[in-house]
Amino acid sequence: MKMKICKNCGAVVTVERDCHCSCGFICCGDKMSDVVANSTDGAKEKHLPSYEKIGDEIKVKVNHVMDDDHYIEWVLMETDTETIKHTFKVGETPEVIFPYVKGSTLYAYCNKHGLWQTKVE
Ligand SMILES: [Fe+2]
Repeated sequence: MKMKICKNCGAVVTVERDCHCSCGFICCGDKMSDVVANSTDGAKEKHLPSYEKIGDEIKVKVNHVMDDDHYIEWVLMETDTETIKHTFKVGETPEVIFPYVKGSTLYAYCNKHGLWQTKVE
């Protein structure tokens, strides 16, 4: 999964197929930057998605506040063939059930601390 962010306005886009020349993606007149998972100063224990395997499913949790100005926007599971995304509203508990797929990747996106990822073993 590849995402870009505008350092000026905060716009975030998910890239389906990246550009291979040097023109990049432009927003607010500047090139957008790559979003790198687990790279901000946010606390790992409050942002990394965790999971509990329950039969053929996993219960995914993020131990994070869900306040008006600081919350988990979504959790996403990516496999070789599928992407499943669950979007949260302020005040909801950031938990969701996904199918268990060994080797898949879980992502969580905090509106202040960006992208976080965990591998499903
Ligand atoms: Fe956060």
